[in-house]
Amino acid sequence: MTNAFTISDLRQRPEFFDAVSDRIWRAWWQPRGYPASSISHRLRDNINPAPIPFALVAHDEDKFLGTASAIAHDLAERPQFTPWVAAVWVDPAHRGLRVGAALVDRAAGDCFALGMTRVYLCARPARSGFYGRLGWTAIEHGVGTDDLTVWSKAAAAAV
Ligand SMILES: CC(C)(COP(=O)(O)OP(=O)(O)OC[C@H]1O[C@@H](n2cnc3c(N)ncnc32)[C@H](O)[C@@H]1OP(=O)(O)O)[C@@H](O)C(=O)NCCC(=O)NCCS
Repeated sequence: MTNAFTISDLRQRPEFFDAVSDRIWRAWWQPRGYPASSISHRLRDNINPAPIPFALVAHDEDKFLGTASAIAHDLAERPQFTPWVAAVWVDPAHRGLRVGAALVDRAAGDCFALGMTRVYLCARPARSGFYGRLGWTAIEHGVGTDDLTVWSKAAAAAV
């Protein structure tokens, strides 16, 4: 593959729905015993007309590379924060090519374009290098039973 890729809203490229659903399920929900159907059901919310939630897909023409979403709530311990960038995934064969960085930047940028002044995400400490490089600020550590770090990024005008 070339290093060229496109990021699309899943609503514009619904043919990637099954790939997005499959990766989210395998990465985060299959290990907890959830059926694949429960994730595809939830993902349907991301292709409704409401601005948030939304899902993005990174692709090289018709080849799936990765995905990220923006959702209203992600962390039960922090209901006051919204929206969240979540479910960031790049297929292993395409990692290290800045696809993940582009997905996270685009998800945050789309939230800012919708008028949000700040976006959040939560991740395990092992992902700190990734989000720190992308200009996010860690605002809390050790949250919840998964020991998550909460990250935040402000829209340029709100810094
Ligand atoms: C984390 C993930 C999305 C990164 O995607 P990627 O496309 O390989 O990342 P990029 O190529 O855009 O990397 C951007 C920068 O982050 C760095 N980086 C990438 N993964 C990293 C990691 N795990 N730890 C530290 N730095 C990392 C890259 O070296 C690059 O740095 P640079 O700007 O100095 O060149 C990908 O590894 C993945 O899908 N992992 C499994 C799912 C996951 O953990 N998702 C995050 C859940 S919070």
